[in-house]
Amino acid sequence: MKECTNSGAGVGNDALREEILRLKKEKNAVILAHYYVDGALQDIADYVGDSLALAQKAADAARDADVVVMCGVNFMGETVKVLCPDKTVLMPDLEAGCSLADSCPAEEFAAFVAAHPGHTVISYVNTSIGVKALSDVLVTSSNARRIVESFPADEKIIFGPDRNLGSYINSVTDREMVLWDGACHVHERFSPERIAELKAAHPDAPVLAHPECRRPVLLLADKVGSTAALLEYALASPAKEFIVATESGILHQMRKGAPEKTFIAAPPTDSTCGCNECAYMKLNTLAKLRDCLRDGKPEIQVDPELAERALRPIERMLSLC
Ligand code: 13P
Ligand code: SF4
Repeated sequence: MKECTNSGAGVGNDALREEILRLKKEKNAVILAHYYVDGALQDIADYVGDSLALAQKAADAARDADVVVMCGVNFMGETVKVLCPDKTVLMPDLEAGCSLADSCPAEEFAAFVAAHPGHTVISYVNTSIGVKALSDVLVTSSNARRIVESFPADEKIIFGPDRNLGSYINSVTDREMVLWDGACHVHERFSPERIAELKAAHPDAPVLAHPECRRPVLLLADKVGSTAALLEYALASPAKEFIVATESGILHQMRKGAPEKTFIAAPPTDSTCGCNECAYMKLNTLAKLRDCLRDGKPEIQVDPELAERALRPIERMLSLC
């Protein structure tokens, strides 16, 4: 099996990196990156984080900048634009979508909401701006449990779009939220059988899993959490080896933070490759980052009316966590 080595070492990228740093200064730009993008991008970013931290950081980071570049996927760029409407928000590649966001078209979600009158609508941040605009409050994998628990136990709740995160939150909060039937194609691919085989070969290695994974995978996990929570756990744990069931970009920060530990990427069901990558996140490259800074495009644009409606549930989330 091929080992995952998302090191970000990027042989021959020095000139590119220098150009990016020069352009960043020239354009007064700030670069944000999610843990799933290539290690070379994480290393050049001003701030690397999970979805929650990136949303929290956006307004802060943009305060003195004219341009914000989001190395991640579209819904993250849209969130930054909603929070910082007067800034230019660029992305290295606008094709960087999200299968989970795509699994919940806004018109269909509107009909789902209409079919459940009297329900509070809690949506995962991995959604289009149209779905955000239909929501009462947003959550990320970092704060979903806390925000759901901030509502009374008998609150009627719709949770969308991730059925795996939703059913995980239902199980740990003892709720019966009505779930939208969506999922992330990357996290759905993790194989409980292959993880169990790895666990048998590495009995002392805790299994770390993102809550977007299916229930049989979560049942094998020693720690379920957002990318930031898994990273924190791995760095603090006395264990020497870990089996990691989330997108393999996170291994870069784990290996950087604890070079003496071994991080084993949990394999997907249907591949001979030993790791599991989000093809959308991997559309971000150093060359495209350089191009977008140089050309001032592609730029994230959002419908102002939708942005105004989406801002409320985003701000409500940020006030609750
Ligand atoms: P985090 O909330 O952990 O950053 O996860 C984002 C994501 O896209 C998971 O697939
Ligand atoms: Fe979307 Fe899944 Fe990629 Fe995360 S890993 S950005 S949920 S497709």
